[in-house]
Amino acid sequence: MSRKMMIAGNWKMNGLQQDGVELAAAVKQAVKAKKWNCEFVVCPPFTLLYAVKKALRGAKVALGAQDCHTAEKGAHTGDISPLMLKDLGCSYVILGHSERRADHKESSAMVKEKAIAAKKAGLKAIICIGETLAERESGKTLDICAKQVRESVPDGAKAADVVIAYEPVWAIGSGKTPTAEQVEEVHSQVRKVLAQKLGKAEAGKMRILYGGSVKPANAAQMLALEDVDGALIGGASLKADDFINIAANAGC
Ligand code: PGA
Repeated sequence: MSRKMMIAGNWKMNGLQQDGVELAAAVKQAVKAKKWNCEFVVCPPFTLLYAVKKALRGAKVALGAQDCHTAEKGAHTGDISPLMLKDLGCSYVILGHSERRADHKESSAMVKEKAIAAKKAGLKAIICIGETLAERESGKTLDICAKQVRESVPDGAKAADVVIAYEPVWAIGSGKTPTAEQVEEVHSQVRKVLAQKLGKAEAGKMRILYGGSVKPANAAQMLALEDVDGALIGGASLKADDFINIAANAGC
């Protein structure tokens, strides 16, 4: 089953206007320099979406946000609707990142509602799952990830609308990564759970990204794994060279 590799940058809460424009311009330049076999996505904070969209004009780099509300509009002070993101030129939205699950008490049920709302607005969702260190050490990784997939992915979801990102919480921003065997173990099991939930054909088409301390130096090993279809990159996506070298080293 051939799945197009995705290289996605999660800028998190980083960058003022000028930083965002400069980073986007550097990514655009680097992407232009070569013919790529992967899909690039950058997910800046809400405040930079408009400026980054303008800076990326003409580049084959999709724009994504890092969260959305479940409603189209209304009395939800401080929130951003999926329709607003679509209107701004986003095609993706990251949902259920572990930092949101932790900081904003987002449950898998909420993530699922957000994914349904995103689809309704015409956005594709990058749904994040992953175990904590305590869960890994107590041998619960596969159960936790399976449960998060079952509860966060909408019933009947299509590979065209949903991408999964496996991000072990303890690997995020820590410089630590699971072994290649551990990554493949989770990814192949996620695909099995997706097959039970969505059918084998859809599961076979759905991309499963790995995220957590992805760097140019480990990209080749991580992204060569059978069930790894790309990367969700935090820290290294804030340097255009690192972001592009991850794609290059992964053979995109
Ligand atoms: P990291 O973050 O690459 O800085 O570990 C990944 C993520 O949280 O998406």
